[in-house]
Amino acid sequence: MNHLKAKNSIQHIYKYVNIFYNKSDMNIQVITLFPEMFDGVLNSSMMWKAQKEQAVTFRIINLRDFGIGPRQQVDDTPYGGGDGMLLKPEPLFAATKDAKAFDPSARVVLMTPRGQRWTQATASEWSKRDNGLIFICGRYEGYDERIVSLVDDQVSVGDYVLTGGELPAMTIIDSIVRLIPGVLGGEKSAEIESFSDGETLEFPQYTKPSEYDGMKVPDVLLSGNHAAIEKWRQENSLKAE
Ligand code: ADE
Repeated sequence: MNHLKAKNSIQHIYKYVNIFYNKSDMNIQVITLFPEMFDGVLNSSMMWKAQKEQAVTFRIINLRDFGIGPRQQVDDTPYGGGDGMLLKPEPLFAATKDAKAFDPSARVVLMTPRGQRWTQATASEWSKRDNGLIFICGRYEGYDERIVSLVDDQVSVGDYVLTGGELPAMTIIDSIVRLIPGVLGGEKSAEIESFSDGETLEFPQYTKPSEYDGMKVPDVLLSGNHAAIEKWRQENSLKAE
């Protein structure tokens, strides 16, 4: 059996084990004012493959569909004054209710720079959970604080402020979905597991040619000495702060 065939059959075993345990689909829903932002990311590369393998189902919900009045209003001025517009509670509550009707046990995750910092360890933990996820993408200058009553987790991708929660949601979705068993293929997932202590980052890697424009691949990697290579990789793995 060649390598590709072996890889395919591992993926098939994962898929059917998952179906047997009714775990074939993790529902990931996203509430956003900019659904088109997700088209490219979720329909390319590993996220596309994860859908094809039935490891995940994406549902993108347009918050505008739950807007109020003929202009489908979704935002309004803050009480107490101040610049900018806040996302109104009614459309956010209605959109979340819609997502919960689709998947009642799904956890609701609010993207906010005030949230818990996202880590590889959390991505690994969430990829193994049975429940689906509903991501709420904040936008503009903020949201009505009452939305927090609906939310199970508040997550930040870092101490900087982006224009909205869409890019953070895509980042988090990618980091979870690639770890769902069968998505990357068994052997690769196991390899990644060893870096999921939340601290260790990957070591530098090289491919052919062994010398390019005067820059050489470290000799040890060409040596065939597996123990020495392993030692070099450990020494050259970065530790996250
Ligand atoms: N929305 C805006 N900035 C964000 C961040 N850093 N993390 C999560 N959501 C955000």
